[in-house]
Amino acid sequence: MIFSAPAQPLRQAAEAKGKLIGAAIAAGNLADPMYQQVAGTEFNYLTPENDTKWENTEPGPGRFTFANGDKVVAFAKDHGMKVRGHTLLWHLALPGWVKELDDVELKAAMLRHITGVMEHYKGQMYAWDVLNEAIADGGIGEHRTGSPFYDKLGIEYVALAFRAAHEIDPSAKLFYNDYGAEISGWPKTEAVYRLVKSLVDQGVPISGVGLQMHVSPRQLPPIKLIRDTMQRYADLDLLVNISEMDLPVGPIRGTLDEKLEQQAKAYQDIVSVCVTMTACDAVSFWGFTDKYTWLNLPQYAKIHGRGPHLPLLYTDTFVPKPARQAVLNAFVAP
Ligand code: XIL
Repeated sequence: MIFSAPAQPLRQAAEAKGKLIGAAIAAGNLADPMYQQVAGTEFNYLTPENDTKWENTEPGPGRFTFANGDKVVAFAKDHGMKVRGHTLLWHLALPGWVKELDDVELKAAMLRHITGVMEHYKGQMYAWDVLNEAIADGGIGEHRTGSPFYDKLGIEYVALAFRAAHEIDPSAKLFYNDYGAEISGWPKTEAVYRLVKSLVDQGVPISGVGLQMHVSPRQLPPIKLIRDTMQRYADLDLLVNISEMDLPVGPIRGTLDEKLEQQAKAYQDIVSVCVTMTACDAVSFWGFTDKYTWLNLPQYAKIHGRGPHLPLLYTDTFVPKPARQAVLNAFVAP
């Protein structure tokens, strides 16, 4: 099958607005020629979906492996794309040995990890997610417990990590990335804001915030409240972006066409918020084809009820969906 390139690639429309438009990419999928063609045509920004997570970059203490991350970075370079490294610290995708360390060992391991990974990719990453998902679900109790970093080192580890990252690669933009943090007034949104503001107040080198935007179709987010959240980060002189957007249609009522139309409308409304805001540097999707989405995995699919969820811009046979046109519209709108 040959991919018939759309008249106007998304990246062309995004570049005209000075924006990055991205997708999560898995090195393992690059063997699929259609996958390569669509990714290389449509996007100017990539995030390794899993290949630069701790369990994949440092599976054993001090034993670094970059083969798959390097494949994604090389693909990006070949296609004139920027890369967002993802993610230096997270309570998930963490090898078992990290969880067994005591506080002194853990602090040393954290700094060794940040150093090892960032040195390897120095100058090649436009941005890094330094920290992922450190605020508790629902914002209740503020910080997520069950993360060895918070549990053993206390909240000071966050500033330490950002300072270390900045020292190693001062050219990389450094982000805090989280989900459920986009609707202004919601407890988790406010808790994320407090964490980020406290870093800014301490003079910690943080460049911005990634709002993952794994949208729940049961409750589409009010656009005005997303804009308010983004504006509050802009007012702190930070960047803010949509970092992992997808939108499952399973629970949306109606025929398949109706579901896909509603999906498209929500994509357009949400992406438009970024397009119209100077502080929003990027819109990234968590993949681009329904053939490869984490929402095909039963353990994640079930969060959104019955599938199929078809959450992305292209069908599983790489045909552009209404959502793809809607995202283009968001970028070309005056
Ligand atoms: C997901 C990947 O898509 C899956 O393949 C993997 O099994 C689990 O992680 N928030 C994030 C991403 O920051 O790293 C997660 O990615 C999705 C939620």
